[in-house]
Formats: sequence, structure tokens, C-alpha cells
Amino acid sequence: MESVMSKAEFNWPTREDWISDIMPDFYQHGLAILPQAIPAPLCQALLEEVSQKQDLTAAGVGRAGALQQNTEIRRDQTAWLDGSTAAQQQYLALMQALQTQMNRQCFLGLTHHECHFARYQIGDFYQTHLDAFRGRSNRVLTTVLYLNSVAEGGELVIYDENNTELQRVLPQAGLLVMFESERFPHQVLAAKALRYSIAGWFRKD
Ligand code: OGA
Ligand code: MN
Repeated sequence: MESVMSKAEFNWPTREDWISDIMPDFYQHGLAILPQAIPAPLCQALLEEVSQKQDLTAAGVGRAGALQQNTEIRRDQTAWLDGSTAAQQQYLALMQALQTQMNRQCFLGLTHHECHFARYQIGDFYQTHLDAFRGRSNRVLTTVLYLNSVAEGGELVIYDENNTELQRVLPQAGLLVMFESERFPHQVLAAKALRYSIAGWFRKD
């Protein structure tokens, strides 16, 4: 395990070309999709961690304070990353580096990143929603990193402001999706295989 996690192997914590891969699409559309966003050994370590996790709990919907479980809206199970393992620390450091670069290039004033592991079992879904409502949330950018690849099912479908489908993303290990949280309604179609991801938000508090 130690050798898999060595810093040299994945050039941790910064990846200078990362931002230039994302930026043209993000700048133009507010949405970017980046395959192999993180090193494969890190992705594998995060997948092993989440697949052994015992403390995933049914995800809630609604704003803080009014958080409720609603299995008609979403059925995934989640656990927040807290930096308690080397793999988590490395992922959080990568998000920190991305935040710095986004702030430099887009002047977004992002202050931190929060993220949770998510597990969708067969049949689990998340109906069309926004991650943030204008003026009512501090979530600015959404990130979703997929930890395993699936052949079909569990696609992330992203819509524009008029609910026209823009993108349909089949989860692939290491693929990162990033978009403006207030701008894009999206949903997760029913999973046909176990589906693991890390959903996160850059916030401005
Ligand atoms: C979310 C979400 C998308 C995905 O957790 O808010 O929209 O593809 N996740 O897992
Ligand atoms: Mn969402």
C-alpha cells in the first residue's frame, strides 16, 4: 500500500496541466468533463476505501436545518471525507490545488471544498435537482469524481436552463465532472451496477 501511495508516483499534490485541461470548456460553458483527472493508483485506493466503508448513510435532501431523507428523490448512501486516510488527504489536496487555480483564473473567491463518498446500489437514482439555489447557498462549483467504471446505467444527465439535455456521462474511473452549482439541473439515472463516486462542492463562505 505504501508504495502505491508514494507522492512521486502521482506528482502530488499539484498538477499544473489540470487547470488548462479544464479551463477552455469551463470558461465557455460553465461545465467541464475531464477523463483521468486523478492518478489511477489514487482512484483505486479511494475505491477500495469506499467499498469497505461501514458508515455510509442514506443521503438527505433539502437545505441544512430542513434536511430530510426522501427515497423518492434520491437513494444513494454517503459519507463525508474527513482527511482521515492518506488517500483522502491526497484527494483533498488535489481539490485544494484546483481551488487555487480556479480562483486565480476565474476570480471565483472559493474558500473551501467539501465532499462525500457516494454509493449507488442497483436501482438507486437521484432525480433531477440543482445543487444550489441562487442566493440561498454557498455552493459555487460542483465536482463529481467517479471511482469505478460501469457498462451502463447510473448515467449523470446534465441539462441546461431550459431543461434541454446537454451531457450524458457514463461513470468511468478517474473521470471528473465540474459545473456551476446554480446553473445546471442534473440527475443520476437508476444504477445497473454498483456505482461509487465522490461528489463535492467548492464553496464561498
Ligand atoms: C449529487 C449528484 C451526481 C453523480 O450528489 O448532488 O448530483 O453523478 N451526484 O453522482
Ligand atoms: Mn447534484
